[in-house]
Amino acid sequence: MESLFFVLLLVSFSCFTSSEALTSNNGNITIKWDLMNWTPDGYVAVVTAYNYQKQRSITRPGWKMSWKWTKKEIIWSMVGAQTTEQGDCSMFKGNIPHSCVHKPTVVDLLPGTPYNQQIANCCKGGVLKSGLESAFQLSVGSAGTSVKTARMPVNFMFTAPKQQYICGPTKNVRPTRFITADKRRMTSALMTWNVTCVFHKAT
Ligand SMILES: *[C@@H]1O[C@H](CO)[C@@H](O)[C@H](O)[C@H]1NC(C)=O
Ligand SMILES: *[C@@H]1O[C@H](CO)[C@@H](O)[C@H](O)[C@H]1NC(C)=O
Repeated sequence: MESLFFVLLLVSFSCFTSSEALTSNNGNITIKWDLMNWTPDGYVAVVTAYNYQKQRSITRPGWKMSWKWTKKEIIWSMVGAQTTEQGDCSMFKGNIPHSCVHKPTVVDLLPGTPYNQQIANCCKGGVLKSGLESAFQLSVGSAGTSVKTARMPVNFMFTAPKQQYICGPTKNVRPTRFITADKRRMTSALMTWNVTCVFHKAT
């Protein structure tokens, strides 16, 4: 009896230490990071969070997402979301970045955001109902400007009111394919990175 308990303990422990094994019957939150085009010092990406949980929605004041840059990346601008802090951008003259924080935290914008600051599926005040998605766009600077030099951010964290998630590693996956509005042409992201997060506990 005691040894069975110990085995169960080991199994459940290994589920949380081996981030490769982040699966859950209750679904997951998948964060997809699509690099859409290169810029002189980095790239523009569209980040989409999919709520693949059948039973769990995220309510106001909404989700928060954070990660750690691996080099000296900064965020020049964002559409459809914002970082909670700008950080120390004092080394920049002229154009001032949206965020110079090494571990930025991003929150959604509110409904009613001016149209020129929106992208599709943004601006729901962080509300993310079961089966739906939430997206924002960011322009990353001081980053790699090719598939060989762009570095995936690491240590993703996803939180929601009264909900704690555990996120796995960032994975370089098959680039997303997009179909144009007239449905006559397929395009492809330059690179795509996925992160999967599973519900851990209520807080
Ligand atoms: C996350 O959920 C989706 C939808 O159910 C599923 O297709 C995908 O395999 C899951 N991802 C992982 C890593 O379990
Ligand atoms: C990455 O995430 C997207 C969105 O959930 C999914 O369509 C795609 O299959 C995922 N890629 C891999 C390799 O899991």
